[in-house]
Amino acid sequence: MGQLRHMLRDDDVNHDEQKQILELGMKFRENRFHHRPFEGPQGVAVLFDKPSTRTRSSFSIGVAELGGYPLVIDKSGSQLGRGEPIRDTTEVLTRMAYALVWRTFEQSRIEEMARVATVPVVNALTDEFHPCQVLADFLTIAQFRGGVDALEGMTIAYLGDSANNMANSYLLAGAVAGMHVRVAGPNGFLPDDAIVQDAEAIAATTGGSILVTTDPQEAVRDADCVFTDTWVSMGEEDQYAVRSKPFWPYQVNEELMALAKPDALFQHCLPAYRGKEVTAAVIDGPQSVVWDEAENRLHAQKALLTWLIGKQRGDESLLV
Ligand code: CP
Ligand code: NVA
Repeated sequence: MGQLRHMLRDDDVNHDEQKQILELGMKFRENRFHHRPFEGPQGVAVLFDKPSTRTRSSFSIGVAELGGYPLVIDKSGSQLGRGEPIRDTTEVLTRMAYALVWRTFEQSRIEEMARVATVPVVNALTDEFHPCQVLADFLTIAQFRGGVDALEGMTIAYLGDSANNMANSYLLAGAVAGMHVRVAGPNGFLPDDAIVQDAEAIAATTGGSILVTTDPQEAVRDADCVFTDTWVSMGEEDQYAVRSKPFWPYQVNEELMALAKPDALFQHCLPAYRGKEVTAAVIDGPQSVVWDEAENRLHAQKALLTWLIGKQRGDESLLV
């Protein structure tokens, strides 16, 4: 029996489901054509209200490799961008496409799309969450640490703007994975209590834990993986002046990385601003795995789409 599932935020999948998707991602890493669920080709609509390089390329090429046709629609070229109601656009696209992927602003917008859609909806980044990125980041850990089982019990640290989409996604996805998640940022740029509480509730069931702190050293000490992100997210460009100063203590530099485990990985969702949230010595250094991380967007999202379609069709063969 088929089941319509969406990926709007990282905790839309449970521990076992997240593992299943990541295992599938490992299969796609080994064989780009492991499954081709959109053979036909069946269309997948990929909509952008914000700029993108990695998400656009990985979904476009990924859908094509899954046998499908990626229909990429930018805000500037769509009626949605001129104010057509989300509901109306969704009613149309859901009758044509086999999945809907959307990068937009408020989380409430993609939630509205998912209420109307009769096909899986995937969050390709909102102001609140970036679940596809964190699936790729966890796949990268699996790649370098001997498989998906390595994630459970691991300590990850995220430094910088801890009120943004990446911080929220690490909190939720890390909790789902059973990780010890540490998030450090300055006062005024810490995650909402509601997200922290959700993450803590999940961590209590998976053996993980959550630490939110203003102390960057406490966060990175003995961590297995260190993450950061831009201090100025898309849509916040008018806040450059106010946003640079408070984040300097959270810059990921060699001194801070030295507090993590000696073999700790460094990841960044990109685009990166060298000399701001991370130094060139770290992002271009031996512990950085950012290019594998970017490549893993392709494999992780193909796994996610295949898994969602497998669920909807009730086709167990697509889940492995
Ligand atoms: N990391 C990421 O989502 O990159 P893009 O903004 O280039 O898609
Ligand atoms: N926090 C960043 C992530 C970019 C992939 C932003 O939203 O702009």
